[in-house]
Amino acid sequence: MDFIGLRAHTRAVPPKLDIHFGENLDVLARFKRARFDLIYIDPPFNTGKRQARLERKTRRAKDGDHKGFYGERYRTVTIGSKSFADQFDDYMAFLEPRIEEAHRLLKPTGSFLLHLDYREVHYAKVLTDAIFGRKSFQNEIVWAYDYGARSKKRWPAKHDNILWYAKDPANFTFRYDHVDRIPYLAPKLVTKEKAIRGKTPTDTWWHTIVSPNGKEKTGYPTQKPLGIIDRIINVHTEPGDKVLDFFAGSGTIGESAIRQGRSAVLVDQNEEAMQVMASRLAFARPKFHGWTPPAKPGGRALKKARKKARKKAL
Ligand SMILES: C[S@@+](CC[C@H](N)C(=O)[O-])C[C@H]1O[C@@H](n2cnc3c(N)ncnc32)[C@H](O)[C@@H]1O
Repeated sequence: MDFIGLRAHTRAVPPKLDIHFGENLDVLARFKRARFDLIYIDPPFNTGKRQARLERKTRRAKDGDHKGFYGERYRTVTIGSKSFADQFDDYMAFLEPRIEEAHRLLKPTGSFLLHLDYREVHYAKVLTDAIFGRKSFQNEIVWAYDYGARSKKRWPAKHDNILWYAKDPANFTFRYDHVDRIPYLAPKLVTKEKAIRGKTPTDTWWHTIVSPNGKEKTGYPTQKPLGIIDRIINVHTEPGDKVLDFFAGSGTIGESAIRQGRSAVLVDQNEEAMQVMASRLAFARPKFHGWTPPAKPGGRALKKARKKARKKAL
């Protein structure tokens, strides 16, 4: 049988992007089983706070509070904020039906990646083991970063955790040959060829957070870096595969998937997330479901959403 030909045909199909507005359990209930090759979710972390990111701009002002180029005075002002609630009385009861949906929607060869933080990851591991089976658990990836305030009362918590489950532990995608290389810590201890080639990463990934001033920043709170997500999509899926993220936020999974030739389905219940995705992912001509994008993404509608969010934050 011509499986190779079939695969080549699948790859030739241009990637598609679908974005759904709504409560994810309601949206997912409409999807047929076993549709996705990879499901990645980054649910709110249950920090008990409102997650908000202020957007700030520095402008020239005679009475500005700091000096810049040529002795001019500048003032940094807040121009908006984006936010969502991050508080659940029973977080595992919130996650359980959604992880069950992830299991139902994965193809038999699919993988599930659950991105959490140190406060919830151990409970979530026990819960996900029960749904997928302990044998399906493959890795706990630690994403380590080094940014922001440092506690003086305990070790500063500077990592997130990503649990990886393969639906079938004997048959899943892990493209070892495509894993990126990183520099050796002690290159002089290995051969010159090895030092030039670099080494493959372990289950601890050092990567900066999305820079508050960088090009990648969308202004959406808890946006994850493309560097982390690109590695996941590259290694855990084949070109032409289909990826699902039902806590999509700013749409990082969508951007990474489309740029790497995979199709993606994104879900979020927050209007501000829709606005950000409409603007960020316009290049991929997404199809929206349950929400009408503004004629010009990123224009007046995005400003209006920012104003609404600013009022909410006051
Ligand atoms: C931590 S953020 C995701 C950030 C995303 N990974 C990124 O890189 O931008 C979690 C998102 O889940 C959304 N969310 C929370 N509960 C939801 C629900 N029940 N249904 C759909 N979306 C939900 C929030 O609106 C928020 O955008």
